[in-house]
Amino acid sequence: MLIHGLLATSLALTAMPAAEAQAQARVDCAKAKCLALTFDDGPGETTPKLLSVLRKAGAKATFFLVGKQVERRPQVVKKTLADGHAIGNHTYSHPSLPTLFDHEITTELKVTQALIEEATGHTPTMFRPPYGHTDTKVLEAADDANLAQVLWTGTTLDWKLRDARKIKAAVLRLAKRDGVILMHDTVPQTVQAMPEIVKELKKRGYTLVTVPTLLRGKGPRPGVSYF
Ligand code: NI
Repeated sequence: MLIHGLLATSLALTAMPAAEAQAQARVDCAKAKCLALTFDDGPGETTPKLLSVLRKAGAKATFFLVGKQVERRPQVVKKTLADGHAIGNHTYSHPSLPTLFDHEITTELKVTQALIEEATGHTPTMFRPPYGHTDTKVLEAADDANLAQVLWTGTTLDWKLRDARKIKAAVLRLAKRDGVILMHDTVPQTVQAMPEIVKELKKRGYTLVTVPTLLRGKGPRPGVSYF
């Protein structure tokens, strides 16, 4: 009986991410008060800690990954997907894309697509331009790479604040139904603040979802800009 019990427990644990991903797919943001937390510039040193916080809270998020970082931490990217989060492309070297030639923009996007595919077998359908700098040629390059552009409704400026208490206050101030909040998993104070942030958002009735869940099956579509 004990062995059977242990086996059942370990099976349940193994099956959890898939079950959670399914539960998330069933979230209907037309009914639920949804909010999307998004994290840029990783995977970084503090990303595994953030994943653990989100897992414990049953919260889903979206990560916009820098290709250079994917090369350094492919296992973290795999884990991010396995936990049911969404991932997007945040270019290879984090340049301001409108300052580049068209072929350079395409390279920034496509090299990162290839790195994420290599690490996970998954092809991203979203990208976020560094600094939010974008124009029509960037959007055209995104379309060409089969990527939707995902911006945000609120930015915490966590990289500048570097203070857990202030970052928490910024998130709570910016939170709104169907909002998309920009943070960085590379800022340790953001990760430090996350247990409290998630707790407070849940108390306020938010369901924390990925960007595709927030789009309610109507996106992301290539060449389209969201938020
Ligand atoms: Ni960035």
